[in-house]
Amino acid sequence: MRRLLNLAHHGLHRLAATGPARPAHRAQHAPDGHAPDGHGPDRPGHGRRGPGTGRPDGDDGGMSVTGEQYDRFAGRMLAGLHRRAASEAADLPDGAAVLDIGTGPGRLLLHLAARRPGLHAHGVDVSPAMVERARHNAAAHGLAAHITVHLGEAARLPFDDDTLDLVVSTLSVHHWPDVPAAAREIARVLRPGGRLVVYDFRGVADTRPTGALAACPAFAGARVERRTLSGGPTLPLPLFARLALELPRR
Ligand SMILES: C[S@@+](CC[C@H](N)C(=O)[O-])C[C@H]1O[C@@H](n2cnc3c(N)ncnc32)[C@H](O)[C@@H]1O
Repeated sequence: MRRLLNLAHHGLHRLAATGPARPAHRAQHAPDGHAPDGHGPDRPGHGRRGPGTGRPDGDDGGMSVTGEQYDRFAGRMLAGLHRRAASEAADLPDGAAVLDIGTGPGRLLLHLAARRPGLHAHGVDVSPAMVERARHNAAAHGLAAHITVHLGEAARLPFDDDTLDLVVSTLSVHHWPDVPAAAREIARVLRPGGRLVVYDFRGVADTRPTGALAACPAFAGARVERRTLSGGPTLPLPLFARLALELPRR
């Protein structure tokens, strides 16, 4: 069973085009411009490097597939996970603000806005191609009025202090190059009593991103919940870890 789970972890990890968060390593996984579907580097949605990215080095967020390819995968395989993550906002009042960090093609935002149109749903991603894809998806689903997607990086969020009620993130934390800096930034933008809920791979080799987040001093005093869960009907294996942190009320 453990062997089967490890195989599933690695397969999914590759499919989701994840890679260690070190920039030097990421360069080896840069898009080669020849996607299997024949889309070249100039096609919209391709995760190519270039000016105007969320990081000074024009980083692509560690993704080695095009925005369109990843979007097809996420729409089919990760729907259960995204639905589950969107349900984290169920108890928020209308008018509350939610942020999805590393939103990719914004599938979680679509679930969120469809279910709770009274919320302000924001997404941030370091990849311009993903931001473009997420905006395209919001418009294509008639949800553009409820969703705002920003180009940005987890450790430098484009929000004022104490402005968000909930921060969520799915399958992105293992890419973040500086988890403690991101933790400080998330704690800065969350209101007192706000929540961070992160879903990521449960344990691919040495990747234990949710554990690293929970250990950050920025979350000292937070109420912590950890859980293992499956990807729902589309991925019924215990592949994911859920970490929920609730900041103390000041
Ligand atoms: C595997 S995808 C997950 C996308 C989406 N959350 C999902 O569940 O389908 C990881 C995403 O995280 C983004 N990302 C990587 N590092 C980031 C960072 N430091 N700040 C913001 N986004 C980042 C990547 O560009 C990519 O879109």
